[in-house]
Amino acid sequence: MFLKRAYGIVIIGILLALVLMFMMFGSGLFTEMEETTQVERENRIVVGVSQLGSESGFRTANTESVQNAFTQQNGYFLIYNNARQRQENQLKAIRSFISQRVDYIIFSPVVETGWETVLQEAKEAGVPVILMDRSVDVEDESLYVTCVGSNFVEEGEKAGHWLEKELQKQGHTQEPVNIVVLAGTEGSSSQIGRTEGFDAVAGGHDNWNILEQKCAEFTSTRGKEVMRGFLRKYPEIDVVVSQNDDMTFGAIEAIRESGRTVGVDGDIMIISFDAVESALEMVAEGTINVDIECNPNQGEYLLQVIDMLEAGEPVEKQYYVEEDVFTMENVTKEVLDERSY
Ligand code: AHR
Repeated sequence: MFLKRAYGIVIIGILLALVLMFMMFGSGLFTEMEETTQVERENRIVVGVSQLGSESGFRTANTESVQNAFTQQNGYFLIYNNARQRQENQLKAIRSFISQRVDYIIFSPVVETGWETVLQEAKEAGVPVILMDRSVDVEDESLYVTCVGSNFVEEGEKAGHWLEKELQKQGHTQEPVNIVVLAGTEGSSSQIGRTEGFDAVAGGHDNWNILEQKCAEFTSTRGKEVMRGFLRKYPEIDVVVSQNDDMTFGAIEAIRESGRTVGVDGDIMIISFDAVESALEMVAEGTINVDIECNPNQGEYLLQVIDMLEAGEPVEKQYYVEEDVFTMENVTKEVLDERSY
């Protein structure tokens, strides 16, 4: 009986000691981590980046570009957040950046609308906001400092002008041309701009019939599903305009499974956007007719903008990245070797 009680006391003692040790070392460790973060932040420019997701090859390359730019060696402390395609996650991340008193907020808005309140909060807290890749639709443009991204309307026009020339080359200027469009995320700048640009050119051609435009969310899986639906619904499709390479990969699978062929020597012309390396390989072999580049390497541009802001220099409201148009003719071995994404 006495022995049992003694054991009990010893065990309780050991447990108490363990709890005490955990409290001391555990909390010590935590304080140390917090201090390290504080020390790490000191003398560095703190940047909070809210990336919209990881839906495509473009997006992966865009994220890498930002992470390679805002490094410790370059004098930055980067706080990165992936919003997984949800605007509410981006709003949360931006508010958290404001409360962490970052020096700059950079974000790629998943859609154009719905940002006024949070941008106003950032402005009132004195945190400059820089838009990356896509833009926002706000009445008061002073809510953000600048935007670094693509000219999506121009990209859409490039696609339209390429088709114009190609049909002319083929002497196909009078007969009906049946087009389907796989669109990116509804309400995103890239979807809005590319649609506007392509439609403007299409409007000048009475024989171009846009049979349908449907959202496939910039992903390969949805691209395949939506393309399958188009193939079932429309027996005569001449051209697929796919607003990014990932949807294109899915669409090509669906077309091939239906027994039809694609590309330069095929039944259906493929117009794609982004020009990631694997798509350029398909351009070189004639599977994709043309790829309108969307340049994800925006990190360097963002560094330059922040340098200018730090130096108190004025910045422009919009900076466009450089972009090309790729067909079989200009996708050389050098282009493929140099492609980093
Ligand atoms: O906003 C740019 C677009 O977003 C890219 O074309 C697409 O691949 C991405 O998801």
